[in-house]
Amino acid sequence: MIQPVQTDLFAVIGHPVAHSLSPTMMNAVFRNLGIPAVYLALDADSLEDDLRTLAAVGFRGLSVTIPHKESALRLAAEVDETAAAIGAVNTLRLQDGKWEGRNTDWIGAVEALKRETPLRSKKALVIGAGGAARAVAYGLKHEGASTTITNRTLSRGEDLARALQCELVPLETLAGLGDGHGFDLVVQCTSVGLAGRDSVLPLPDSFLVPGMVAMDIVYRPVWTPFLRSAAQRGCRVVKGYEMLLHQGVAQLEWWLEQTIPDQGGLQIMRSALEKALVHDSQD
Ligand code: ATR
Repeated sequence: MIQPVQTDLFAVIGHPVAHSLSPTMMNAVFRNLGIPAVYLALDADSLEDDLRTLAAVGFRGLSVTIPHKESALRLAAEVDETAAAIGAVNTLRLQDGKWEGRNTDWIGAVEALKRETPLRSKKALVIGAGGAARAVAYGLKHEGASTTITNRTLSRGEDLARALQCELVPLETLAGLGDGHGFDLVVQCTSVGLAGRDSVLPLPDSFLVPGMVAMDIVYRPVWTPFLRSAAQRGCRVVKGYEMLLHQGVAQLEWWLEQTIPDQGGLQIMRSALEKALVHDSQD
């Protein structure tokens, strides 16, 4: 058996994973806080054997990304209630030779939004019904926001609303209403705006009103069509990479069992992300 001695090993595991920003963000904070660890990107097309191998090699923690979040839930020896309710594990920690699973995506969404607005009793709209929408809606409900789902395919929206006990409004109804319909915040959780994908907003611009908080979970490009419209219409914009950042901080805190400070921790991670994303836009 071969194992690392002076350096702790962490990685993001997914497929494809070559363009992940997590190594940039995590290695920057390890360096700055003097934590003897490295964080790699590992491309894996199936998890089962790989998790055994990574445990044997001595990896302490893993970020799990597309398409493995559901299988990580199944394969983890233990998962907390939250990950089970969301139906996905995005974080694994090796404990006594076994992988424990959690979900920090919802924490990422909540922390990113909370820096802009308190969430309790706010009227929140989640656009989308995939895995990301599920984590965001779970987080909003958990924080006491009154949460409504809307989705292109009504039946998927209904399934999610039922599972999390949220309201559901058909997209066409919202589009017809215009003018914000009393929502304090809107989170765009579809793949619209993702580089190379559809860029037509699922809601008309007129839905976005001044003072509304608008977050997009898409962070590449930083200025998605949704966030551009939101900024033009006077909304308070929360960029998608803030969710990536805060879910990463929550992962680190769980793996290392220490608090990551804003100064010298989170700020360093944010700068690393911003720098990488600026490079992106110059490609
Ligand atoms: P993930 O689990 O990563 O969130 P997903 O399950 O593929 O990904 O979900 C993608 C979401 O984006 C869905 O809500 C999807 O709507 P449908 O359920 O109708 O497919 C939504 N979506 C994708 N392209 C869209 C588009 N052009 N307009 C509106 N919604 C779109």
